[in-house]
Amino acid sequence: MEIPAPALLQAFGGHRPDTLPVWFMRQAGRSLPEYRKLREGVGMLDSCLRPELAAEITLQPVRRHGVDAAILFSDIVVPLRLAGVDVEIVPGVGPVVAEPVRTRSDVDRLVAHRPGDTSPVAEAIRIVLDELGDATPLIGFAGAPFTLAAYLVEGRPSRDHLAARGLMHSDPETWRRLMNWTADVTGEFLRAQVLAGARAAQLFDSWAGSLSLADYQAHAAPYSARALARIEDLDVPRVHFGTGTGELLVAMRDAGADVVGVDYRIPLDEANRRLGGRTPLQGNIDPALLTAPWPVLEAHVRDVVERGRSAPGHVVNLGHGVPPTTDPAVLTRVVELVHSL
Ligand code: CP3
Repeated sequence: MEIPAPALLQAFGGHRPDTLPVWFMRQAGRSLPEYRKLREGVGMLDSCLRPELAAEITLQPVRRHGVDAAILFSDIVVPLRLAGVDVEIVPGVGPVVAEPVRTRSDVDRLVAHRPGDTSPVAEAIRIVLDELGDATPLIGFAGAPFTLAAYLVEGRPSRDHLAARGLMHSDPETWRRLMNWTADVTGEFLRAQVLAGARAAQLFDSWAGSLSLADYQAHAAPYSARALARIEDLDVPRVHFGTGTGELLVAMRDAGADVVGVDYRIPLDEANRRLGGRTPLQGNIDPALLTAPWPVLEAHVRDVVERGRSAPGHVVNLGHGVPPTTDPAVLTRVVELVHSL
């Protein structure tokens, strides 16, 4: 008898498996006491590059919650660090780049960096797959060029990405060089994960929502397409996610994604309508409701699942990452609820 594909891969492929698959962006992380214990005294990016540690952190939420996917414990700025860019993740802040990239000569210096050695990541994946076997797929991920460029140009998290958006208009040629380099470095990182055994790939464009549709199409989407094209031949489903991207969903799909991740700002039936009813969706429980009384959260999860039925496939997830203050028992309960629906 043929063993059915894991529910996650069926749904990403546009099918309706017997149980609805669910996982959570940032499922590995500070919401888990076992994570906080392992991370004690180890810097965030250093922990991503220690294969044993990264593998163990990747597996923790799978064991605890029974989610339908593992996602590699890493970060979108890891390929920048591997390429030799001076970047840190400052707790409570996010990625901080020592020398922000603002001018033509800054970009010339940046693009002289070659993609770094991804073997620590491949080694972590090997350890993860040893435990997971075939039942629970591992998702590999990378940051989209725009979100990474926003950190490189701004130097740190920013609300409106004025410097990055300014550069794309004031010096389009410099922007193009920056984005091509970023697309290649992040695309290579994604490819390394799939070659090591990740069975799906997600591109995170967390800050794409700060762009108009016209700017997204002209100055961001072509580079996301370039990064996604790096794994086109490897035959794994490609998920494209951003926040505040209700106006960009079609353009994000057309950049070369098989599945579109939707944040919590528009309902899934509306996202499905915008996408013409032919694209599997991932999302979109509002993370804010994880602290609401259970009946409120339960009604919201049921509504998300109901609206998701309009799409050709649905993988339940949050509309953005797990907040660090989340009670992990609530996440386990959401998994049980989704599996029972
Ligand atoms: O989802 C997972 O469980 C996999 C791990 C993962 C991390 N970062 C680990 C992490 C993933 C998929 C990411 C992606 C990421 N990193 C994105 C895109 C998704 C999103 O949330 O929008 C972005 C924008 C980053 C950059 C980044 N790294 C930020 C903004 C932060 C938070 C800084 C803070 O302290 O609030 C990080 C750090 C980070 N990356 C943590 C984790 C678990 C927290 C580190 C810690 O434990 O202190």
